[in-house]
Amino acid sequence: KNIVILISGGGSNMAAIVRAAQQQDWAQRLGVRVAAVISNKADAKGLELARAQCIATEVLDHKQFASREAFDTALAALIDQYDPALVVLAGFMRILSPGFVAHYEGRLTNIHPSLLPAFTGLHTHQRAIDAGCKFAGATVHLVTAELDVGPILDQAVVPVLPQDTADTLAARVLSQEHLIYPRAIANLLSK
Ligand code: GRF
Repeated sequence: KNIVILISGGGSNMAAIVRAAQQQDWAQRLGVRVAAVISNKADAKGLELARAQCIATEVLDHKQFASREAFDTALAALIDQYDPALVVLAGFMRILSPGFVAHYEGRLTNIHPSLLPAFTGLHTHQRAIDAGCKFAGATVHLVTAELDVGPILDQAVVPVLPQDTADTLAARVLSQEHLIYPRAIANLLSK
């Protein structure tokens, strides 16, 4: 079973998934491998990381396309060359069109840095602080047509501390993302 991971930036979640695949021997235990990492940005740091692990990388620049649909169609064609059992969004900062989402129904996952259904969208950490939340966290979910909604696969909770800024809270949440995203994928693909 092939996994294709989509990134736009640092790729720390992608790296955590690749590491888990190696350390937990997903190839032997689950028959799973990370087949490709695809970025919509050529300078995404995560691409170097993937190349260093000898994983195929692809860049598809959304700015080269006239519409969201045209980009999504090209993206799906690229992804499908790897015949994926699972397509993993990991800090992929593009909204995907309903047609794209439908094409990958049940095999498209995302990680969102809040305890969904609270705080969909952007700036989740500042919004959690501003709301006076005592706890925050991250959610792995299946992607459906509506943004940041869709069946929840896994979650992690962290405390919000009195001195937290959006950055300190984000770092605490991100370290948990690195645990739950590989776990959710392994669970999903072992079914
Ligand atoms: C993560 O916080 C993820 O939840 C959000 O974007 C960030 C991506 O970080 N959607 P990275 O690229 O995996 O390091």
